[in-house]
Amino acid sequence: MSTERTLVLVKPDGVRRALVGEVISRIETKGYSIIALRMLDADRSILERHYVEHQGKPFYEPLLEFMASGPIVAMIVQGNRVIEGFRSLAGVTDPTLATPGTIRGDLARDQGTNVVQNIVHGSDSAQSAAREIAIFFPGISVEGK
Ligand code: RTP
Ligand code: MG
Repeated sequence: MSTERTLVLVKPDGVRRALVGEVISRIETKGYSIIALRMLDADRSILERHYVEHQGKPFYEPLLEFMASGPIVAMIVQGNRVIEGFRSLAGVTDPTLATPGTIRGDLARDQGTNVVQNIVHGSDSAQSAAREIAIFFPGISVEGK
């Protein structure tokens, strides 16, 4: 089966700036399907699991603090090659360098904060997608069963 699923988060900066609709619109306009969606206040244990790969890095604590600073929106997005496709829609991590036309390039900029605030998260591999979907949507598998 060639279709694929990814986990997308609208981070607290995106929710605060009322950009949830804009992010959803870009995903849907590109042609991907949103198959699950929830808004939540992520607690520390969820964020520790989600960002386990960044544990120990200088931006780890500021990142967890930022991600817990307000509600986030989590969604499962589906489509052929959606993992790399959404990363392409999002643009690179640093919003100053993200290409105009991307979510980060159009909607975010350096805010002078101690961690990069860049509106969205997208899984970076099939393995990450499966792991992250299980964290935010325990009842739904990456394969769609
Ligand atoms: P994401 O996981 O959120 O989709 O972003 P990404 O793959 O583009 O970036 P990653 O390296 O996984 O970093 C996760 C998030 O941590 C924050 N970050 N801040 N030097 C810094 O201040 C720094 N580096 C990373 C960003 O919010 C980044 O999206
Ligand atoms: Mg990442």
